[in-house]
Amino acid sequence: MEKKKFYITTPIYYPSAKLHIGHTYCTVAADTMARYKRLCGYDVMFLTGTDEHGQKIENIAKEKGVTPIEFLDNIVKGEKGILDLWKLMNISNDRFIRTTDDYHCKSIQKIFKKMYDKGDIYKGSYKGKYCTPCESFWTESQLVDGKCPDCGREVHDAEEEAYFFRLSKYAEPVRKLLEETDFLKPASRVNEMVNNFIKPGLEDLCVSRTSFSWGIPVDFDPGHVVYVWVDALFNYMTALGYLNDKYDDCDKYWPADVHFVGKEIVRFHSIIWPAMLMSMELPLPKHVYGHGWLVINGSKMSKSKGNVVDPYILAEHFGVDALRFFLLRTFPFGTDGNFSNELLINTINIDLANNLGNLVSRTCAMVEKYFGGTLPAEKEFDTADDDLIGLASTLRDKYEAEMENYQFQNALEEVFKVINRANKYIDETMPWALAKDEGKKPRLAAVMYNLLETVRICTTLLSPFIPESAEKIFDYIGACDGCRVWEKANVWGSLSQTVSVKKGENLFPRIDAEKALAELEAIAKEQKKEALPELETEPLLSENVDFDTFCKSDLRAVKIKACEAVKKSDKLLKFTLDDGTGKDRTILSGIHKYYEPEQLVGKTAVAILNLPPRKMMGHESCGMLISAVHTEKGEEKLHLLLVDDAIPAGAKLC
Ligand code: MSP
Repeated sequence: MEKKKFYITTPIYYPSAKLHIGHTYCTVAADTMARYKRLCGYDVMFLTGTDEHGQKIENIAKEKGVTPIEFLDNIVKGEKGILDLWKLMNISNDRFIRTTDDYHCKSIQKIFKKMYDKGDIYKGSYKGKYCTPCESFWTESQLVDGKCPDCGREVHDAEEEAYFFRLSKYAEPVRKLLEETDFLKPASRVNEMVNNFIKPGLEDLCVSRTSFSWGIPVDFDPGHVVYVWVDALFNYMTALGYLNDKYDDCDKYWPADVHFVGKEIVRFHSIIWPAMLMSMELPLPKHVYGHGWLVINGSKMSKSKGNVVDPYILAEHFGVDALRFFLLRTFPFGTDGNFSNELLINTINIDLANNLGNLVSRTCAMVEKYFGGTLPAEKEFDTADDDLIGLASTLRDKYEAEMENYQFQNALEEVFKVINRANKYIDETMPWALAKDEGKKPRLAAVMYNLLETVRICTTLLSPFIPESAEKIFDYIGACDGCRVWEKANVWGSLSQTVSVKKGENLFPRIDAEKALAELEAIAKEQKKEALPELETEPLLSENVDFDTFCKSDLRAVKIKACEAVKKSDKLLKFTLDDGTGKDRTILSGIHKYYEPEQLVGKTAVAILNLPPRKMMGHESCGMLISAVHTEKGEEKLHLLLVDDAIPAGAKLC
C-alpha cells in the first residue's frame, strides 16, 4: 500500500547573522514533527533552507568587503554555519534550499512572469516607507510611532518605478480562508490577521525593486529585482521541482501539510502566500502554524541587545538531546516562552536526570543485580500492576492527539505522567524486599518486566524528541527492532519475556546548577564584549558654538612639575603645574585609573585655565586638564592630551 505523505517546512533563514536559540526552536519543532510522522509510517518531506537575497545581505557583504555570495557561503557552509548547526542539532531535513540556487532563481522568474501575464502583476510607481532590516514596505498608517511595526527600527521614504501584485483582488477569498477554515493555527492568530491587515483594506503589494541588485532579476525588465518575500515564499514549491527540472516531487508532496513559522511572519504566510497561490491557481498549503518567540526577560533576542543565546554553547554544555527536549517540553508552541538558563537546567535535572534517567538506570541495574541481566520466563503478575499497565498501554492515543495538534509540551506531559507513575510503582512494589525472598522471584520478575515494558513504550514516543538517547535506551533495555515501532507502542507485552538488559553510561547526569550557571554567565559576558563595537567615539555635537564664546576659553600649554595621588580618593590625581605666570597652579583630575603620578611628571599637557575654581577632597582645583576619550569594546579609554615639550608653559592654544 502506498504510504501517506507529509510535507513540513520551516521558514528559510536569513543568513545575515549567526542563528540563535530562537531559530533553533522552530527547526527542532519541525524536526520532531517530521520524525514523529516517519515513526507513524508517513512518507515525509521535511524542508528547510536559507533566504539569501535582499538589500540587507548586499549591505553586510559590502561592509565586510566581500561579495554577497562569499559572505553567504561562509555563513551557510562555513565552520559553525547554518548547515553545521542543523547537523549538530540532529535535524533530519530531507532537503535544503538556498534561494541563490540556480534552479530556484529560474523558477521564480517564470512564476513572476506567469502572474504578470495573468494581469495580477502590473507596473506602477511605489511611494512609501521601507524598513531595510525587515525588507518590508509599509504604508504610513501601518507604522507604529513612525517606526517599523515589526522591529521598531527607523524606516525611510522610498519612491521608485515598481511592479505590484494585486493583493487587493484576493482580500475576500483570503479573509474566508482565515475565518472559515482552520488554515491558520493556532486559531488565536486569525483575529490579528483579519483585524490588522484585511479589514483596514488590503493594498496591492510592491513586488519589485530597482534600488539594489542583490536579488533575482525580473527577466523581462532588467533593472528590477523580485521582492524578496515573493522569492522566499515560493521556495516551498521550487524545492519540490515546481517549474524546474532539479526535483520532481511537486505532484507527490504539494500542497504542504504545514508551514511552521514564527509569529512575526504569519502575515506573509497567511495573507500574501495564499493570495499568490490563488493567483497561480495552485493548491493552498493545508496549514500555517504561527508559533511564539523565545524571549529573554520578556524581550526579543537580538544581536544589538547583546542577549542572543548561542545553541552551540548550550548543546556543548548539556547535550543535544537535552537541549531539544527542553525547548519543546518547557514552552507551549503557540505562545511566547521566557528562556533562562535556570529553567533549562531545572528541566534537565527534574525530567531527564531524576525521572527518566533514574527509571532507566534503576530498572536495568535491578535486572542485572537480581537476575544477572536476563529475565526468567516464569512470572507472577498481579492486579497491583493494572494501573501502570493501563496507563502505559493507552499513552500512545493521548500522545498522538496532542502531536497532531502540534502540542509538543502536552504530548511530553502525557509521557512523563507514565514515567512518574512507573517510578512510584517501584516504591510501591519494593523490588529490594521481594529480592530477599527466593519464593518471590516470579513476582520480582513480573515487576521488572512491567518496568521495562513501560520504558519501551515511553521511549518509542520520546524518540522524535531525543532520537539519540532513545536508541541508547532501547539498547539498554534489550528492545528488539520489531518492538521499537509505532505499531507496538500501544501493544503491551511486545518486549520479549526473557529480555536481556545492558548496563550503560548515565544518559542524563545531574547538572550542578551553580557551577553551570557561573560558567554560562562567564561565557555570556565574553560574548557580550565581543558583540560590542571595536571602537566608539562620542557623536559630534550638532549645535554650533559662536566664535566669541569659543575664544573665551583660555586654553594653554602647561608643564607638569609634580603629581601625586589624592589621599582617600582612588580617582583623583593632584597636579602642580607651571602655567607660564611664574606661580604654581593646582589642578585635580580624575584620571588615576589610567595613569600613575610618576608617569606624567615633566610632560607638557593642555589645560583650560579660566574655569571657576572648584573644591575637591579639600583641595582647590583651578582649571581642567584636557583628555581624549573613546570606548573600546564597551570599555572607556582615556588619554591625557600631551603635546610637544618644545611648546613653552603658558603658550596660548587657539
Ligand atoms: N527569511 C524569513 C523567512 C522566509 S520564509 C519564506 C525570516 N527569516 S529569519 O531568519 O529572520 O527568521 C526565521 C524564523 O526564525 C522566523 O520564523 C522567526 O520567527 C524565527 N525566530 C527568530 N527569532 C526567534 C525567537 N527568538 N524565538 C522563536 N523564533 C524566532 O523571517
